Amino acid sequence: MTAPLAAAEPNRLALVTGACSGIGRALAEGLAARGHPLVLVSERPAALAEAAAAIREAHGVPVQIVALDLARPEAAAELHAAVRELGLEVDILVNNAGFFFFGETVDADPARASAMLQLHVVTPSLLCTHFGRDMRARGRGHILLVASISAWRDFPGINYYGSSKKYLRGFARALRCELGVHGVNVTCLAPGATATALYSGTSVPVERARRLGVMMDAEVVAEAGLTAMFARRAEHIPGRLTRAMTLAAVLTPQWVIDLLRRHGPWLPRRVDPPRS
Ligand SMILES: NC(=O)c1ccc[n+]([C@@H]2O[C@H](COP(=O)([O-])OP(=O)(O)OC[C@H]3O[C@@H](n4cnc5c(N)ncnc54)[C@H](OP(=O)(O)O)[C@@H]3O)[C@@H](O)[C@H]2O)c1
Repeated sequence: MTAPLAAAEPNRLALVTGACSGIGRALAEGLAARGHPLVLVSERPAALAEAAAAIREAHGVPVQIVALDLARPEAAAELHAAVRELGLEVDILVNNAGFFFFGETVDADPARASAMLQLHVVTPSLLCTHFGRDMRARGRGHILLVASISAWRDFPGINYYGSSKKYLRGFARALRCELGVHGVNVTCLAPGATATALYSGTSVPVERARRLGVMMDAEVVAEAGLTAMFARRAEHIPGRLTRAMTLAAVLTPQWVIDLLRRHGPWLPRRVDPPRS
């Protein structure tokens, strides 16, 4: 087990979105192991209560829960108000909640696409505004934004997902510059493929990919993210293989991507207009 890196900041409260499962749950566990009290946020009250009880039991830190659908325009303001009502001050904000779908842009269900933009773009940005303002006033704090390696390249077939993560990466960089002078650190965590429930409902063979080492464990990704955040790093991609794959994706010429899009047998084909 890694030694706690937040020893200089004990008892500082951390809020984690998407904390029921996967990387968010592992981030919450890692923060609790370092002694941080927690506010866990996600949609499902029963799963949140279960996670909170398990973390309290394992680490002996206070854990509060707020069940909220974060894919709504008013979610960030509601969450900020809920935390103030609890009389709490957030010193570590972890923007992690997210979901995933495959499909070409024009085939997307508009309601799902809109929910993704709310959850990945609007809500985390506004949470940074609300909680970042409080942190600036106190002259301390950490903000962790969970993006993805898809932020390094334009990928057809996951345009909504990749573009939203690209936004988060850029947002994190500018926010870091703005808040850094006030003593507040901002870090962007960019995981590659990680074995979580993110892919449920898709045909991705998560367990096999994890066994083959193609997908990382959520605990390893989360630990790398917390280490980077407490070291006040700007950005971190966990895993050597993932970093190599990201570099390869960046160096791949666009014509290769275009060729794949044109000839990939699993992708929608061109439909010729009916003859008049
Ligand atoms: N797994 C990967 O390969 C991978 C790679 C790169 C980046 N990421 C990013 O890592 C983050 C965590 O994903 P994960 O892989 O850990 O997946 P996960 O296990 O499915 O966790 C997603 C979390 O987000 C929460 N969430 C989803 N929609 C929500 C909503 N509308 N309101 C509130 N909470 C909501 C879920 O809570 P409920 O269950 O209560 O809905 C869940 O706790 C995401 O931002 C994802 O994009 C993952």
